[in-house]
Amino acid sequence: MLKQLAARKSVAAMTREIESGPKLNRVLDRRALTSVGLGSMIGSGIFVLTGTVAAQHTGPAVTLAFLVAAIGCGLAALCYAELASMIPISGSAYSYTYATLGEGVAWFVGWNLALEYVMSGAAVAVGWSGYVVNLLAEFGLHLPDALTNAPLGKGADNHLVTTGALVNVPAVLIVVLLTWVCYVGVKHSTRVNNVMVMIKILIIILFIAVGIKYVTPDLWQPYLPANTGTSGHFGFSGIMQGAAIIFFAYIGFDQAATTAQEARNPQRDVPWGIIAALLISTVLYVLMSAVMTGMVSYTELNVAAPVAVALDAHPELKWLGLPVKIGAIVGLTSVILMSLLGQPRIFMAMSRDGLLPPSMQKVHPKYRTPHVATIITGLVAAFFAGIFPLDVLGELISIGILLAFTAVCAGVVVLRHTQPDTPRPFRVPFATFTGVAGVAICLAMTLFLPHDTWIRLAVWTGIGFLIYFLYGYKHSRIRQQA
Ligand code: ALA
Repeated sequence: MLKQLAARKSVAAMTREIESGPKLNRVLDRRALTSVGLGSMIGSGIFVLTGTVAAQHTGPAVTLAFLVAAIGCGLAALCYAELASMIPISGSAYSYTYATLGEGVAWFVGWNLALEYVMSGAAVAVGWSGYVVNLLAEFGLHLPDALTNAPLGKGADNHLVTTGALVNVPAVLIVVLLTWVCYVGVKHSTRVNNVMVMIKILIIILFIAVGIKYVTPDLWQPYLPANTGTSGHFGFSGIMQGAAIIFFAYIGFDQAATTAQEARNPQRDVPWGIIAALLISTVLYVLMSAVMTGMVSYTELNVAAPVAVALDAHPELKWLGLPVKIGAIVGLTSVILMSLLGQPRIFMAMSRDGLLPPSMQKVHPKYRTPHVATIITGLVAAFFAGIFPLDVLGELISIGILLAFTAVCAGVVVLRHTQPDTPRPFRVPFATFTGVAGVAICLAMTLFLPHDTWIRLAVWTGIGFLIYFLYGYKHSRIRQQA
């Protein structure tokens, strides 16, 4: 059994598969790839979690939490870039790990990537619901709380508690609607994505440019409130826990890697797109969170639509409220759409390797979309969107992805030693140092997440390995070829 768990798929076999497999349209250039990354990144993290993290963990030092998370992501991004240039295949981190650390870890990473796509689709739908409810209220339409909130919430001790709500209806509806869009095929999807990315970036720039004039520097004092005596509540541990949670905002920069087979020049442009998306978002996030915490006291930001609270605190900025809320809703929509589009690609890669049933690769005869994988993605995402709150989903996603990034950073180091001569169009500078530092920072952030998040991850991983041993273990193509 251990032998199979450690079985690796060779880079050469993957390259052969890409060459002999169905050809996808190679249309994406550098700008489009950067836009794919930004389309998947800028969403609930900046528009919602900034407020929660500032109010509960860091105060105005949320900017520092963004920087710590950006360092971890930056190291992982460099490692992603090297592996994506060596193995430009849509399975992304799952495929890289299969080539480096073996089938068991690859399954774990692939299963955690499902967190990135399915679950972040769900989590962002919850953020979307918060902004839509806020916007409708502005027009005098007040939806009942029981139908716009999750029935489960996080209690004071991080345990799950019931909230009295029934189901988050808007969150379910947007997932169902966008699943349908993915099912029938998003024609011109990159063009639609480009437009949505432009809108949300313009809105953020507008918020920063106008909001900066309303910043009261006193609100930045104390920059990092003293720890309250509970780990993670302000102070150093607050920054680290805040970084692990706000890390969510960066999730998606690697999405360009899953479109490697649709890139014109994947070896050169995918690394470029990944790094550019990360740099642009870091600058926007740090500036926006600094302005937000300078416009209103961080203690007031623990709400579903913190940007709206910052604007509402300044009656002169009333005019900006509507465009910013609409911009946030458009931005969140693009993240959900990219998540729901990304997941079937990972499922297809896992199904090609025999770890998931062949139906996951089925392509709809009329729409030419992986419809079975799309429906499963949508159903699972709708279920979680309807019953879980954003913070619980966000923390679970962050821990899962941080561990997947850890595997990617370790993978670079392993591959440099096991396959030193394989061509690497993009080489990570100081690979061993960068890889080890990436492992250390990503792991360090996970250690600051609440204990209950680890338990939820253990349950998620347990379900994953149950499925693996019931199906993938027996059907793995490597095992059948052996
Ligand atoms: N990074 C994405 C967001 O913040 C998942 O919404």
